[in-house]
Amino acid sequence: MSNYFKHSSALVETDDIGNDTRVWAFVHILKGAKIGSNCNICDHCFIENDVVIGDNVTVKSGIYIWDGAVIEDNVFLGPNVVLTNDLRPRSKAHHAKFQKIIIKKNASIGANSTILCGTTIGEYAMAGIGSVITRNVPAYALIYGNPAKQHGWVDEKGDKLSFVEKGVWRSVDEIFYKETEAGLIRI
Ligand SMILES: CC(C)(COP(=O)(O)OP(=O)(O)OC[C@H]1O[C@@H](n2cnc3c(N)ncnc32)[C@H](O)[C@@H]1OP(=O)(O)O)[C@@H](O)C(=O)NCCC(=O)NCCS
Repeated sequence: MSNYFKHSSALVETDDIGNDTRVWAFVHILKGAKIGSNCNICDHCFIENDVVIGDNVTVKSGIYIWDGAVIEDNVFLGPNVVLTNDLRPRSKAHHAKFQKIIIKKNASIGANSTILCGTTIGEYAMAGIGSVITRNVPAYALIYGNPAKQHGWVDEKGDKLSFVEKGVWRSVDEIFYKETEAGLIRI
């Protein structure tokens, strides 16, 4: 039995929650959900069954995480982020399998963003407020808008990178990164 905090008004049906995670008021988590350690699940969230959340994840208030979502370690979800899992929804027409959203390690999603199912958001990517994310996002990309487009690159701290030469970028800390098909990697 792990040692996590549950507010007295939270309804937690899963046993799969890691140590030191905090589950705040009016949260409902279904039985099949897996949640790592040291996460913060803020007020008024709902987490369905087929959901995997890693360690050190922040889920700000008012977020509903539906079947098919995979949220890796250290991800930040800003207030009222919307996830989806059905590309062409019809009432009462349930699909055997939902389309996944995968948010890779250390990515941050700005407040009130909406993520289309079937998309993967790369490591350390950062989405600004109100992003409508309809396509995969490369690692370290800074995106925003509707539909969200890339507006540069960020480092691990979220600071914008400077252009050095074609395919090469530099942080304020003099760390260099190069572009690959999947986004940036450190050189
Ligand atoms: C995207 C973000 C990281 C800043 O990126 P940036 O490139 O440094 O942005 P800047 O502030 O230099 O703005 C550049 C331009 O983009 C616009 N812009 C910034 N964020 C935007 C967004 N989310 N959507 C649309 N346009 C945006 C600015 O208005 C500005 O336009 P202008 O040049 O016409 O004035 C920041 O605006 C943001 O949205 N942060 C997320 C905050 C959040 O959700 N926090 C959650 C916890 S409270």
